[in-house]
Amino acid sequence: MNEVIGDLLAKLDLEAKVRLVSGSGVFRFAGEESIGLAEMPVSDGPSGVRGELWDERDPSVSLPSGTALAATWDRELLGEIGGLIAAEARRKNVYAVLGPTINLHRSPLGGRHFECFSEDPVLTGEMAAAYVSAVQAHGVSACPKHYVANDSETERFTADVIADERTLRELYLYPFERAVGAGAWMIMDAYNSVNGVTMTENPLLAEPLKGEWGFDGVVVSDWTAVRSTAGAAAGTDIAMPGPWELWGAPLLAAVRAGEVPEAAIDEKVRRILRFAVRVGALNGTPTAPPAFTDEAAQRLVREAAAKAMVLARNDGTLPLGPSTRVALLGAAAAEPRFMGGGSATVIPGHTTAPLEGLSAVLPVEYTPGVHLSDHLIPVPLTLVTDPETGTPGLSLRYLDGDRVLETEHRAAGNLMLFGNPNAVRADAFELTGRLRADMAGEWRIGFAGVGELRLAIDGETVLTETVLPEGSDPVELLLNPPQRFVTRELADGQEVEVRIRLAPATAQGLPAMGITYAVGRPRRAADEEFAAAVELARTREVAVVVVGTTEQIESEGFDRKNLELPGRQNELVAAVAAVNPRTIVVVNSGAPVEMPWRDDVAAVLLTWFPGQEFGAALADVLTGAAEPGGRLPTTWPKAMADVPVLDTKPAADNTLPYTEGIHIGYRAWLKSGVAPAYPFGHGLGYTTWELSDLAVSGRTATVTVRNTGDRPGRQVVQAYLSRPDSAVDRPVRWLAAFTALIVAPGESATATIELPARAFENWTETGWSVEPGTFTLHIGTSVEDLPLTADIA
Ligand code: BGC
Repeated sequence: MNEVIGDLLAKLDLEAKVRLVSGSGVFRFAGEESIGLAEMPVSDGPSGVRGELWDERDPSVSLPSGTALAATWDRELLGEIGGLIAAEARRKNVYAVLGPTINLHRSPLGGRHFECFSEDPVLTGEMAAAYVSAVQAHGVSACPKHYVANDSETERFTADVIADERTLRELYLYPFERAVGAGAWMIMDAYNSVNGVTMTENPLLAEPLKGEWGFDGVVVSDWTAVRSTAGAAAGTDIAMPGPWELWGAPLLAAVRAGEVPEAAIDEKVRRILRFAVRVGALNGTPTAPPAFTDEAAQRLVREAAAKAMVLARNDGTLPLGPSTRVALLGAAAAEPRFMGGGSATVIPGHTTAPLEGLSAVLPVEYTPGVHLSDHLIPVPLTLVTDPETGTPGLSLRYLDGDRVLETEHRAAGNLMLFGNPNAVRADAFELTGRLRADMAGEWRIGFAGVGELRLAIDGETVLTETVLPEGSDPVELLLNPPQRFVTRELADGQEVEVRIRLAPATAQGLPAMGITYAVGRPRRAADEEFAAAVELARTREVAVVVVGTTEQIESEGFDRKNLELPGRQNELVAAVAAVNPRTIVVVNSGAPVEMPWRDDVAAVLLTWFPGQEFGAALADVLTGAAEPGGRLPTTWPKAMADVPVLDTKPAADNTLPYTEGIHIGYRAWLKSGVAPAYPFGHGLGYTTWELSDLAVSGRTATVTVRNTGDRPGRQVVQAYLSRPDSAVDRPVRWLAAFTALIVAPGESATATIELPARAFENWTETGWSVEPGTFTLHIGTSVEDLPLTADIA
């Protein structure tokens, strides 16, 4: 391949080469017709393939998010998910998916915690390797991100993470090392700096990434992360989004002036050409992906969601018997979070909320009990008619001054117009739809967007406002902009025409192409609603309360301020548990939340952001049709005050020192001696287990795993190491390896666990090294539940 690439490179002049490294669209790498190189669309992301555009007319399969996938501890499942991702990528005509996100859960406050796999580098690395090799096996590139130490969001563009080399090597770099080992064709470098140098120019791109690890793929910048022209001499190969203004023409001039060596550009182009060969963009056709029918995709997502759910506590109430009469409560039961917010967002063509899923299998009565947030929601299609077509939906007009460039019928109240060719030509957008009130009362009608906004109801302008992009993270601002609204008393069935106009502003080089037609339905007074929920719970056999976070508190672009469930959810659970001893709490969050009531309820099921089949998977798990297969990929604290590594806020000089070194996650909990609510690796499932007969030969351990319960189950057998009397500062114990087995009731099976050499090594000034002497191997089912031990000399 190198010869072919050399020949092609020789055919390109400097202009062409600089074009290739500078990107050609918001989600598109440049092509070069003269050598048969196609343009290469790429897409977010880690939990579904959105495609080059955000467009509900071309929906995507929404997969469980990172924490959910990691909670399965299931490499084979990740392999199947990888196949589905590749199929989606091909269907959407993209050559690469921008995922997985493999930064670590350093603090539970990290805003993208839901998107990353785990607090543990080994679990993260295993999941990353499985994901990358599965996607790429079908000729689609994965893109592990964000290299490196982008573990929180506060000041993410400028934060300077200060970490020593051992900490980087053993924790934050390790998942990338595994992903490169699994053959990753692309890596995304991060916004932040590490040890004083912005990551798009950081020496860590040369060593260990491209040197020691032998990464021969493409390093793409995070979107807008390239900060200088001269920095192009360093290891970033493509600046995105393209054409990136600091590269392109300025880079051409810099090379001509000798400020950036042409050899550096050649090296980038060589990598891009190699990438293009791999994904079939160079005089070739992409590999045919696996075929997935809609039903097969739904089945896989449903199965994965159930396998990810962690049963943290169960007094025997779960699984529920047939025809159990359920009081279903919680705002998230009807309007759950299927996915996390930010660039991981996809637009699914179909979703199943817990209310639908449970109602399909059990007699369910529902009331929310609490109003989770005062936020308006994008207008539901059932309430709105496009005045142009008379069908459900909205009319979107692209305007150039008063001239209408184009009109489209759209089927979503929230539109993101990045990359849309009409949007690029327009200076304003107008979204119109006739709203039909489906209940009498005070409706809130409004908009969200960044720029000059105007709202008219029945032809009368009722609100104008300029929302400026300053001060905040542009991604947050673009995807979750401030809302404004007016109130209107509407009769049941009354219609009003709502027209929203946005002249978008520009935030950090990106035009703010998001426009939302937002509404808030009339709702019962808070106390009345709360009392109705408690009363419903009192009169039913079982109460299922679905609690969760909102997009305003858990999303990309900002960190969380605390770990509390928003609104009166804790109060609701406590009140319901007081009247119904069979209260099951379903937690719909991407990351840990405090659960002060956890010991007072019958069962706690952690469901993460489970993807589009949430309701169906939840019904499977609650009725026992499927086992909740998850094991915690991260420690769940009792209270935020107990969390040993918490702070994500850089100091005044922008430094964010990782002073805890190698002690994050369960390592830090073990060091602090404080007990969490639920430890790393914990998860109950529906059967019981006994582990025995640990034997070790070399670096291979075998264990007998017996299913002592009365139904089949899958157990994740976890191997940790410790090193008594070590001369080195070490975790109390650390995950070395894991395997999983499915065992029939009453049967036994043998788990074989290979302990990798690296598990015994620590990073020293002269590289990886093994401290001579004896390690202790601990085998069990969580970092706290380790009944078997053996010495390994
Ligand atoms: C995120 C990346 C994402 C990119 C493109 C950035 O803000 O950090 O993870 O892939 O946007 O959407």
